[in-house]
Amino acid sequence: FTVDWDASAAVKGGFDSFMDKEIHDQPKAVADTLLGRTDEKGALVLDELRIPETVLRSIDKIIVIACGTAAYSGHVAKYAIEHWCRIPVEVELAHEFRYRDPILTPRTLVVAISQSGETMDTLMAVRHAREQGAYVLAIVNTHGSTIPRESDAVLYTHAGPEVAVASTKAFLAQITACYLLGLYLAQLRGTKFPDELRETLRELQELPPKIQQVLDGEGYVREVAQAMKDEPSFLFLGRHVGYPVALEGALKLKEIAYIHAEGFAAGELKHGPIALIEEGQPVFVVVPSPRGRDQLHSKIVSNIQEVRARGARTLVIAEEGDEAVVPYADIIFRVPQTATLMSPLVAVVPLQIFASELAKAKGLDVDQPRNLAKSVTVE
Ligand code: AGP
Repeated sequence: FTVDWDASAAVKGGFDSFMDKEIHDQPKAVADTLLGRTDEKGALVLDELRIPETVLRSIDKIIVIACGTAAYSGHVAKYAIEHWCRIPVEVELAHEFRYRDPILTPRTLVVAISQSGETMDTLMAVRHAREQGAYVLAIVNTHGSTIPRESDAVLYTHAGPEVAVASTKAFLAQITACYLLGLYLAQLRGTKFPDELRETLRELQELPPKIQQVLDGEGYVREVAQAMKDEPSFLFLGRHVGYPVALEGALKLKEIAYIHAEGFAAGELKHGPIALIEEGQPVFVVVPSPRGRDQLHSKIVSNIQEVRARGARTLVIAEEGDEAVVPYADIIFRVPQTATLMSPLVAVVPLQIFASELAKAKGLDVDQPRNLAKSVTVE
């Protein structure tokens, strides 16, 4: 479809940019991707997959192939699908996958994630996977695009057309679709009890109003972004599903605000990146739920202390009620409480808003950043 980039504000839903409109479309994008995919008993219904149950039961490895933000959605999904299904999930950048000699068998499910369904790197990787005899499922937002046509099956996200070059609502819809796939596999293979499945589905279905809650508090995020518009660089830290969220937050700043930004797994700090910390260095930290398992939360609070002790300015994304971060956070962007695996769908929203506002404060074109295309149809 063609885009009237100078469209009136009305076409942009009354927002300054398509990106802001699409950030605000996110509750609906998640709700619409969930719609009609469970039955009245709360069981998952994904007949549209049209993959024989025998194939789905036989899968012993999943490889996600994608680029950019789509790859980060697969990275988030890896944690959930491995936890729910006990199937190993590899996430491969599509342009790397092709030149690796991947180990693919008829029991490998390759999941190609793409908003446009036209990304050449991902399309070529799909072709490579099918030549090797793997089953390819496309998770795509654009109906009738090339990647689904060349895949064995497709699970569409229903985010609606995403116009801004920087992907936002597609990211949340992709995670949602990957979670539906994971829960469906768990249901089919019996790796999760029905009541656990229903509980996890309920957590997914409760997300749209929680995302809306974050959007309602966007004013503060935009104020902070305006105040920091001249910062030369930002670091992003996260653990577990917060790690791909950190990568995505950095990508948003790079691509629309043209600022050097880098995401790290917080545990990597002491293996090198902490040398980057100097007085005043802004560091975003995506903090997991304090109610989660393992010591994820306490470890990331230690990371905040470590960077703060070396002069960093800490911008912390933390759950409402999480008081442990307060002594070490210069700025706190609060998000509603969620289960650990659901947290990326609320934690990424302040990072999207921050990037959009900072780009706008710098007078840049938020929707059409330099050097970038909405769909990279060249290799
Ligand atoms: C995301 O903000 C970027 N525009 C880019 O990384 C994008 O996610 C990537 O090019 C993949 O595009 P696709 O989802 O259409 O395949």
